[in-house]
Amino acid sequence: MSEDSETREIDSLVTSLRRHLERRQRAGIRILPNEMPNKQRTMPAIGGQEKAPQRTAGDLFSEPSPALGAKTLEELRAGIGDCRLCKLCSGRTNLVFGVGNPHARLMFVGEGPGRDEDLQGEPFVGRAGQLLNDIITKGMGLKREDVYIANVVKCRPPDNRNPEPDEVAACEPFLKKQIDLVKPEIIVGLGKFAVQALLQSKAPITKVRGQWHRYHGIKLMPTFHPAYLLRNPADKKLVWEDIKKVIKELRGENG
Ligand code: URA
Repeated sequence: MSEDSETREIDSLVTSLRRHLERRQRAGIRILPNEMPNKQRTMPAIGGQEKAPQRTAGDLFSEPSPALGAKTLEELRAGIGDCRLCKLCSGRTNLVFGVGNPHARLMFVGEGPGRDEDLQGEPFVGRAGQLLNDIITKGMGLKREDVYIANVVKCRPPDNRNPEPDEVAACEPFLKKQIDLVKPEIIVGLGKFAVQALLQSKAPITKVRGQWHRYHGIKLMPTFHPAYLLRNPADKKLVWEDIKKVIKELRGENG
């Protein structure tokens, strides 16, 4: 196909897509990816395996999820429903939304649920969670219920592998909306994935931890993930340094 005819074909696709969306809008149709029947949500992939379509909650080519218009965390959770936006949905037991004070001054953001979290439907309840609880209670003198805890991806990656970019992209709008609703003063980003997602950067955690950053105006302190600390206990002292800065900021002692 020549470049000219390719361009014409793309133009005509865009025009018909625009007309189609305008017609749907005029007709008041608001069909959402996670409201579609299962059959429509999957498509056959090369090799015969079913594959989840690559969409995000705020996708350009589908209606943005109404969950993103939620006014409360409960509405957001209800809007996310039985989410099918990425392939992690097929392996999950529970979608792990978030937990804690809906008006917390301090929010922790982790990577994604592990086995215990998937089974219980609550973030940070396994061994890494126990360490996070110690940081919150013994280190900061707070209660777990005082803070808000969420993850970048809400469903467990198989065998606790790292979340893949399409999975992060699909789920990220929900984390953003959680932050928007909780309106914390401070976010502690736990580990590389959370911090890279929040900072929209590929900077290594070792470079960014321990210094204040901003996430849409909110103070963000990146630090190591508790699971990393379980494997590298010598680095707990670095996390303690980071957490002391957070405590000072919460107490208004940073200038
Ligand atoms: N690790 C995370 O990043 N999040 C959890 O909820 C549990 C372990």
